[in-house]
Amino acid sequence: MAAIRETWNSRTAFVLAAIGSAIGLGNIWRFPYITYENGGGAFLVAYFVCLFLAGIPLLMLEFSIGHKFQQAAPGSFRKITPRLEWFGWFAAGVGFIIVTYYAIIMGWSMNYTYEAATLGWEQEEGVYADTRYAIAETDLEDMAVLAEVPDSLVGRSFVSPVTAEPCVVCADPAGDMTGYGTILVAFGGHLYGFNTVDDANAFMGSPGDFFFNEFLGVTSSPWDMGDFKWPLFIGFSLAWIWIVASVWKGTRTVSKVVYFTVLVPWALLVVFVIRGISLSGAGQGLSFYLTPVWSNLMSGKLWLAAISQVFFSLSVGFAIMIAYGSFLPKKTNIAANAMIVGIADAVTAFFGGMAVFSALGHHAESLGVPVSHVVSSGPGLAFVAYPHIITQLPAARLFGVLFFLMLLTLAVDSAFSLLEAVTASVKDKWNTSHGKANLIVGGLSFLLGIPMLTGMGIHILDIADHFMNSFGLTLVVLGEVLIIGWGTGAEEQRQYINRNSGLQIGIWWNVCIRWLIPMGIIWMIFSEIRERAVPYGSFGLRSQEFLFGWLIIILLPIVGDLLASAKGRGEGL
Ligand code: PHE
Repeated sequence: MAAIRETWNSRTAFVLAAIGSAIGLGNIWRFPYITYENGGGAFLVAYFVCLFLAGIPLLMLEFSIGHKFQQAAPGSFRKITPRLEWFGWFAAGVGFIIVTYYAIIMGWSMNYTYEAATLGWEQEEGVYADTRYAIAETDLEDMAVLAEVPDSLVGRSFVSPVTAEPCVVCADPAGDMTGYGTILVAFGGHLYGFNTVDDANAFMGSPGDFFFNEFLGVTSSPWDMGDFKWPLFIGFSLAWIWIVASVWKGTRTVSKVVYFTVLVPWALLVVFVIRGISLSGAGQGLSFYLTPVWSNLMSGKLWLAAISQVFFSLSVGFAIMIAYGSFLPKKTNIAANAMIVGIADAVTAFFGGMAVFSALGHHAESLGVPVSHVVSSGPGLAFVAYPHIITQLPAARLFGVLFFLMLLTLAVDSAFSLLEAVTASVKDKWNTSHGKANLIVGGLSFLLGIPMLTGMGIHILDIADHFMNSFGLTLVVLGEVLIIGWGTGAEEQRQYINRNSGLQIGIWWNVCIRWLIPMGIIWMIFSEIRERAVPYGSFGLRSQEFLFGWLIIILLPIVGDLLASAKGRGEGL
C-alpha cells in the first residue's frame, strides 16, 4: 500500500513557506541595486512584465510538476521517464550548492547581530568617520569626482601623510591621477593626498576594512587560503542548527516555523521603511531609486537583468518549488497560489528598495555627495554601508540588531527550502527517515561550507554564486520548459493546472512556456558567456576561476546521473 505523502498543515502554511523561500537576501541587497542601475521606474516595468510572463508561469509549472507526480524533482522527472531522473538531481544539486554558501552568509549575519549589539564594526570609529566610506565604496573615477579640488589648491605641493613622499595637487585627478603620483580625496573640508589607492584606503581606513579585512580576513585570490576564522565558524554552526531545526519534521515543522520567519521580517521591513523615509535626504535617495529612464526599456541589458532577478528572487530553477508543490494536498489552487507568491515577493523587494534607498539618500545628504557615490550592493551594502549608516543614527545598537535579525529571518526560510528540496529528493529515493536525510544532506553541506570560513571564502562564494545563478538556474529552467513545454506537452500541463485551480489560466501560458521563456533563457546564457557579469562586483573572476566554475556545472549532471542509477528503495521505484 502506498504511504500517504506528508502535506502542509494549511494553505496559508504552504503559501507562506513558498513566499519565505522566495523572499530573501535577493530582495534586500540585489533588487534595489539592480533597479537603480537599470533605470529605476523603467526597470520596474520590465520586472513586472518578466514576473507575469516568466516568473509566475514558471511557479505554476513547478508547483504543478510536484503536485502531479507527488515527488521532489528527481522522482518527478523519473516518473516522466526514468531517463530524466538525472535532470531532477541536477536541479537538486544546484540547490545543494546554493545552500552551502547561503548558510555562510547567514553565519555572517549571526556574527553581525552580535557585532551590532556592541557596534563592533566601528572599532576605529572617530578618526575619519565620513571620509572613509566615500573612498571605500567608489572606484578611481568616482573618487576623482569626490575630489572637487578648489582651484586655489592646484599646483600646490604637499607631503603624503602615508608615504611621506612629496605630492602635487592636480586640477583634474580624473585624467590620470596616478600619473601625478597622487590621489586626492577632498572631503569634509580636508584634502588628503596619496600615491596609490591602497595607500589611500589604508590611511583612511574604511568601514569595509572591518568586514573584509578583520572579519573575513579576505585574501587576494581563491588560491590563497588565509586564516581560518573561528568566529565565523561559530556563526555558521548556529545558522546550520537553526536551518536544520526548522525542517526537522518536514512540512509539519515548516508549517509552524514560517509564521515566524515570514511575518517577522515583514514587520521589521515596515519598521525600516518608516525609519528610512523619515530621515532627511530620503527623498533624494528614493528619486534615485525610482526615477524612470524610459530609454533603457529599449536596452537588452535591462531585460536581461529583469528576467534573471525574477528567477533568482522567486527561487525557481532550484528544485524547491517542485518539492513544495509535492506536499500540496490533492485539492488545491495552483494558479492562485503562484500569483500570490509572485506578487508578495515583488512587493517585498519594492519595499526593500525603499528602506535601503531612503537610508542611502540620508547618508549621501549628510556627506554632501550625490547618492550614486554611496550606492553599493551585495555584502558591501548589507555588511558595510548599511551598518555604517545605522551607526550614525540614534538607537544604533537596537536598529543594528533588528537589521540583522531581519536579514536572518529573511534568509533562513530560503536556506531551509533548499535543504528541504534536497532532503525530500533523498527521502523519496531511499525511503530514509526525514531526520536521517536531513542530517546527511545538511551535514554534507556543512562540511563543504567549511573552506569558506577562511580568507579565500568570499572568493569561492563568489564563483559558486555566479555559476549557479548564471548557468545552473538557467539550465534547470530551460530543461523544465523543454521537457514539459515540448516533451510531455504544455497543453496537457495547463489542463492539469486548471483542474486543480479555482483561477483558470488561458492559452497564453503555453506560449510563455514553449516560446518566451526558452528564448529568454537562451539569450541569457549567451549574454552571460559574452559579458561574464560578476554578481558581487568587487572580485573580478579570472580564467582559472572560470574553469573551476564550469567544472562544477559539468560535474553536477554527472553526479546526477550516478545518483539516478543508484538503487533506490523509495515508493514506486
Ligand atoms: N529567492 C531568494 C532570494 O531572493 C534566493 C534563493 C534562491 C533562495 C534560491 C533559495 C533558493 O534571496
